[in-house]
Amino acid sequence: MNHIIETQQFDRKSIQELFALADQLSGHREESLRGKILATLFYEPSTRTRFSFESAMMRLGGNVLTMENAKESSSNTKGETLEDTIRTINTYADAIVLRHSETGAAKRAADASAVPIINAGDGNLGQHPTQALLDLYTIQKELGRQDGIHVAFVGNLKYYRSTRSLAYLLSKYEDIRISFVSAPELRMSDDVKEYLKEKNVEFAETEDLEQVMREANVIYQTRIAKEWIKDEYAFEKLKGRYIITRARADTMKDGAIIIHPLPRVDEIAPDVDESPHAVYFKQIGYGLAVRMAILKQILG
Ligand code: CP
Repeated sequence: MNHIIETQQFDRKSIQELFALADQLSGHREESLRGKILATLFYEPSTRTRFSFESAMMRLGGNVLTMENAKESSSNTKGETLEDTIRTINTYADAIVLRHSETGAAKRAADASAVPIINAGDGNLGQHPTQALLDLYTIQKELGRQDGIHVAFVGNLKYYRSTRSLAYLLSKYEDIRISFVSAPELRMSDDVKEYLKEKNVEFAETEDLEQVMREANVIYQTRIAKEWIKDEYAFEKLKGRYIITRARADTMKDGAIIIHPLPRVDEIAPDVDESPHAVYFKQIGYGLAVRMAILKQILG
């Protein structure tokens, strides 16, 4: 059984094996998962995660059952529990990719499932482990290393499951420095900071984006998530605070990169896309290779 629920379950060796497989599968098509079926069950919107898992499965010769908007279109509307839905899909599929609005839903699904569950994001304080794996793979491909780097998470750190997942992953590497750049209302939650302290990872909280942009090897920009910040006044106040403009991007060190899990709204200006530091669209391709590797490891 190979559930993927949180990034703490990975170690350096398993990550390097996964990335080596992603290197092999990048741009490749094969039939190794012929006859296998993947179910993608999404209770929240998605473009990249759902399509990339589906594309990855098809590129490996497998088939896909998909349900978007499961909150409305599944038997959830009739009162069926998540556990019963998962038990049912176990009969139809060999693995399930699940996105859900409740923190802890992926673990609940795994406890009820006889087939692997892949967490594609659970709640506003949960995780998005495959996003963090592809973020780390992007860092490896672009910087050539994961040790000895300064990573700055910018913007929405409180309600952003992929920043939580990547912070946990980075704790496995040596000589890591993390800057958390945000307004006080959106600071990284204490559970992640406590974990980093336990693992002796150097981190600092700051509101000074300019200085961090000059120093960091990786700028991880995030979206101010309207779906999690219900107070309209607070949302309007926070959303324009940390925009990466071309002028700011031009202050970055040679070789430093800007990544973003996407979707972007206006937190990275469109003219940054042409900057040599911008790799957030390339990151989508790295994600496809990583998700092919995940599926091959789990189902192959
Ligand atoms: N990065 C990410 O999870 O994107 P989607 O919401 O489009 O899947």
